[in-house]
Amino acid sequence: MANVTSDWDPLSEANLADPVAVQKNMRGKCPVAWTEQFGGAWAVFKHADIEQVAGDPETFSAAEVFVVPDMTGGVFPWLPVQSDPPQHADYRALVAPFFRGSRIAAFEPELVRIAHECIDSFIDDGHADVASQLNYRVSSSALAMLMGVPQEDGLRFKSWHEGMVSANASGDQEALGVTFMDLMGYVQAWMEKTKAEPGGDDLMSALMEADIDGRPLTNEEIFGTFILLIVGGFETTADVTSATLAHLAEDHELREQLRANPKLITKAVGEFARVFAPTQATARTATRDVEIGGRTICAGERVLQMWASGSRDEDIFADADSVDIDRPGKTQLTSFGSGNHRCLGEGLARIEIRAILSTWLERIDTFKVDGNPERGTWPTQGWHSMPMSFTARS
Ligand code: HEM
Repeated sequence: MANVTSDWDPLSEANLADPVAVQKNMRGKCPVAWTEQFGGAWAVFKHADIEQVAGDPETFSAAEVFVVPDMTGGVFPWLPVQSDPPQHADYRALVAPFFRGSRIAAFEPELVRIAHECIDSFIDDGHADVASQLNYRVSSSALAMLMGVPQEDGLRFKSWHEGMVSANASGDQEALGVTFMDLMGYVQAWMEKTKAEPGGDDLMSALMEADIDGRPLTNEEIFGTFILLIVGGFETTADVTSATLAHLAEDHELREQLRANPKLITKAVGEFARVFAPTQATARTATRDVEIGGRTICAGERVLQMWASGSRDEDIFADADSVDIDRPGKTQLTSFGSGNHRCLGEGLARIEIRAILSTWLERIDTFKVDGNPERGTWPTQGWHSMPMSFTARS
C-alpha cells in the first residue's frame, strides 16, 4: 500500500454538505488524492485522468468492486458493471437490446401520462416534494417498463434502493442483508413465474433463456443484473431532474425559453446531466503499478473515478459551473461515464427527464425551492427531497 497521509475525506461534513465545492477545490489543489476511508482508495478528480482509468480496463479492473464501500456484500457480482473484458461484452450484450432507442422511445407517452397523474395529485396544494412525489415516481415507472413488471412493483424499487444505500452508508450489514433477501425473494418469484410461462419478450425471459460461455446464467448472475438496474437507474435520473427544477426556479430566462420551445429540452438535458451529475464516483482496482497525474498507484489499490468532478472540469468546460444549453463540443467522458462501461441507461434517463420537464413546464407557472432540500449520501450527490411551492398555469 502507498505510504501517504489522507488528503481527502469523502465522508467529511464538508463533502457530505457540498461535494461540488469540495471537488472543485480538489481539482485545483490535489487532483489525485488519497483517502483512508473504505480501506483506502485513490480519488481521481480531473477529466483527463478519469479518462485514463475508464479507458484502460486491463489496468483498472471493475471485477472486484465497482463502488466503495462494496455494496454487493461480496455475495455476487452486479452485472454488467462488475466484470471486465472479454466477459463484460457478453453480459452487456444480454441487456443492451432492452435499452435500444426504438424500444424505450415507446415509453415516453406513458411517462408523460404518469407525470401528469403525479402533478394532478398535488397541484391544488401549491407545494410538493418534487423528488418523492414526481421524479422518483417516474423513475420507478420507467424501470418497471424496462424490466417488464407491473407498475405497482416499481414502487417497491424505491424502498429497496433506499434500504441498500442507507444500510451501506451506515455500515449496517444486517439491514443490508434484510434488503437483499427481500429483493432476492421478489426476483426468485418472478423467475418461477417466467419458468412457468416461457417465451416472453421481456428482460427476465431473455436472461433466463440466455447462453453465456455455453451455459445458462446462474441465479446469482440474474439477481446481480436486476440489482444493478435498480441501483444504477433509479436515483440517478431523479436526482438530475430535481436539481434541474431547482435551477429553473432561479433561471427564469431559461425556464421561459424551454417553455416556449419544448424541443430545446432534448438538447438541454445533456447539459443538465453534466452540471447536476448525480454520481460522485465508481471504483476500480489497479492490476499493476501505474502512474496517474504524477502519483504512483500500486497494484491492488482502489481507484475512484470521480464522474461529477470530471464533468465540471474547467480545463474542458469553459465556465464549467454554469448551465449553457448551447455549449459547443462533445466529450467522450460525461456524467454517464466513459469507456466500456459507459451508461447503458443514458437514452432512458434522457427520456424520463424530458417527460418530466415538459409536463412540469406545461402545468406549472412559477416555482421556487421552499424548505430544506435533503442531499443523498456518498457515493451519490443528488437530492432525496426537493420541497417546492408553485403556482399552477391556468
Ligand atoms: C442521469 C442518469 C444516469 C447517470 C448519471 C448514470 C451514470 C452512470 C455511470 C457513471 C456509469 C458508469 C459506471 C462505471 O463505469 O463504473 C453507468 C453505468 C451503467 N448505467 Fe447508468 N446512469 C444513469 C441512468 C441510468 C439508468 C436509467 C439505467 C437503467 C435503468 C442505468 C443503467 C446503467 C448500467 C446497466 C450501467 C453499466 C454498464 C456497463 O457496465 O456496461 N443508468 N451509469
